[in-house]
Amino acid sequence: MTNGSTPILIDCDTGIDDALALLYACASPDADIRAVTCEAGNVTAADVARNTLAVLELAGRSDVDVAVGRTVPLLQPLVTTPETHGPQGIGDAVLPPPGRSVSSRHAADLIIEEAAAHPGELTLVTLGPMTDLALAVLREPRLPVLLRRLVVMGGAYGAAGNTTPVSEWNVAVDPDAMAVVLRAWSPDGPVDWTAGPPPRPLLLGLDVTEGARYLPTHQERLAHVAGCRADGSAIGRDGVDSPIVRFVHDALAFYFRFHERFDGFRGAFIHDPLALAAALDPGLVTTRAVTVDVELGGALSRGQTVADWRGHWGRPPNADVAVTADVATFLDRFIERVGGLAAERSGVAR
Ligand code: BDR
Ligand code: CA
Repeated sequence: MTNGSTPILIDCDTGIDDALALLYACASPDADIRAVTCEAGNVTAADVARNTLAVLELAGRSDVDVAVGRTVPLLQPLVTTPETHGPQGIGDAVLPPPGRSVSSRHAADLIIEEAAAHPGELTLVTLGPMTDLALAVLREPRLPVLLRRLVVMGGAYGAAGNTTPVSEWNVAVDPDAMAVVLRAWSPDGPVDWTAGPPPRPLLLGLDVTEGARYLPTHQERLAHVAGCRADGSAIGRDGVDSPIVRFVHDALAFYFRFHERFDGFRGAFIHDPLALAAALDPGLVTTRAVTVDVELGGALSRGQTVADWRGHWGRPPNADVAVTADVATFLDRFIERVGGLAAERSGVAR
């Protein structure tokens, strides 16, 4: 830890809400971002890398190492979702091409090397399909005890799916990767944990992340903190534009249209920022220890995360599944932190 902050690795498929999670991390004094790895999912791995580099640059964090790994899921073909995140993955937003390229390290190697160099210190938060994490743990089966904790945005444990009737997007893109990860972290998995099993991963599924609804009123409040209008433009002749608020506004404009069409409200679920916030402050969620597995067969149910709430399988719990989230505190924190970063980046005194 550095100055009481949490050292984190972020694995993402940027993506509108991934971009907001990156901004949240950059704006959080309790986050010590060690590296970001890029996963194909919402868009291709190349688009994810470009978006990730561009968002970090927007936030003034071009010092953070960014790596790309495997560009397709473990076994099934890649499917992306331009209808949810826009053709480039950042909605209606346009960012300048990043001024640097990705690391020469493979994402899976980066995860293993960083964890091994700082055993028991790093929190890994995954915001996309878990392809590279699966590769990493297949190469280094002791990864679960080399990390301090794994936090995952993925799955639907009591809620309906958002990709199929029963499957959540991050799991649906690469269910085999999720299966590898769950097994690797299980107390009864392939490794003999002589010194005790690894810390149970914290899983945030749609059950809680769909409670994190960012509405136009939240954007107004964010702009107020940043000292600009909701679209990022300057207030009056002496005001200044905010590129961060403009980015959030333009990215979310697309996401708002998507949610209005498919979920019946004007706003957006911001799944990934909630998961990132819970990685920094697990007190934002309450959890239940449970055994989780993922359906890999099934004509209708491939990619379904199955939580054995009643202990039918008689297997030890391998996850802490979030069952409630303090969304009001999270949204206040998001507005205060990202709005504060926006003000700082555009030179507005607060
Ligand atoms: C997840 O799917 C992606 O579209 C979002 O970025 C989030 O990680 C929600 O199901
Ligand atoms: Ca994501």
